[in-house]
Amino acid sequence: MSYSSFELLDHSKPILVFGRDGQVGKALQVCLRDLKIPVVFLGRSDCDLSNEASIRDVLNCYQPQVIINAAAYTAVDKAEGERELAFSINAKAPQVMAHYIANVSHGVFVHYSTDYVFADTKPTAYVETDLTGPMTQINVYGESKLAGEQAIEETFNLAQDSGHVSYQDKFSRYFILRTSWVYGDGGNFIRTMLRLAGEKDQLKVVADQIGVPSSAQWLAEVGVQIAGSRVESGIYHAVPDGETSWHGLAVFAIETAASAGEGIEVKSENILPILATDYPLPAKRPYNSRLNNHKLKQALSEMAFTGQYPHWQEQVEAYVKEYVTDSLKS
Ligand SMILES: NC(=O)c1ccc[n+]([C@@H]2O[C@H](COP(=O)([O-])OP(=O)(O)OC[C@H]3O[C@@H](n4cnc5c(N)ncnc54)[C@H](OP(=O)(O)O)[C@@H]3O)[C@@H](O)[C@H]2O)c1
Repeated sequence: MSYSSFELLDHSKPILVFGRDGQVGKALQVCLRDLKIPVVFLGRSDCDLSNEASIRDVLNCYQPQVIINAAAYTAVDKAEGERELAFSINAKAPQVMAHYIANVSHGVFVHYSTDYVFADTKPTAYVETDLTGPMTQINVYGESKLAGEQAIEETFNLAQDSGHVSYQDKFSRYFILRTSWVYGDGGNFIRTMLRLAGEKDQLKVVADQIGVPSSAQWLAEVGVQIAGSRVESGIYHAVPDGETSWHGLAVFAIETAASAGEGIEVKSENILPILATDYPLPAKRPYNSRLNNHKLKQALSEMAFTGQYPHWQEQVEAYVKEYVTDSLKS
């Protein structure tokens, strides 16, 4: 892998990754292990993101030029009752990180965000400039992630306006990668479905919420590619091609696992589609989680990214086959 603007980095300063033990964080460890730049991965025990002083301490200690923030408060339903904590981790913590990097010459901040900043204001895929909210319709997790996005953008705009970083070509940049339906090394919908498919002879899965499953490994790769590029700061929708429902994803993953030799109890025809209203959860979810990925595709082509842009089915197929191989081994 080569990352063109990593040439601009002071190689004595590390890349700092928050969220080491999460799905995307673990994938970043795989992605960054061969890079010839020092990288420090931090987990909750190294830095509690609900504690601003703890974040400032690690920033002052490591003095990074690049931060990749894959940490977040991601317990969507629990967040309804833990608003303050969700906001401190998803909004305040990224603001502190952004403030640090915005004032570093050639600094880069990569931050992951979510489709849950939107709430069914259109029936087609959202572009980056679409209005978010309305706030009364998004869940607390979505609100807190949106507050994080806004804090990052404001912080960078202020730093540039105040002239702290005086030369245009030394400006720091930020990338907010909005994604959806993430799966990797950790608890996720696909793993839950494969487990249940081995235990039950009938499953009921929501079929009227539509989105795009996104591989954590691919998201990590996109984060590193964009960090090392010269593309413009901003929000990018980072999802593969295609779309499906939770029901469509469950059927595809279970059929793939069955054909790869996994012990599956449930037959496809017994994976029954249900309505979201038949499966009530504490946090409201959007029916339309589609994100339009054209801006990211354009950016990747400017970076001379050679890989083929993925379709969600290819990624899920590879993931499920690996999961089956691992489970057959153990
Ligand atoms: N998962 C999805 O479906 C999804 C969808 C859209 C967007 N996203 C976004 O994608 C990014 C990565 O998601 P993911 O699925 O990789 O999340 P994840 O697996 O839940 O990982 C989140 C990480 O954040 C860490 N964390 C939480 N609170 C912390 C705190 N107070 N201090 C320090 N670390 C803390 C967790 O630490 P512990 O391991 O110690 O708990 C965990 O390792 C996030 O920004 C998320 O909002 C995810």
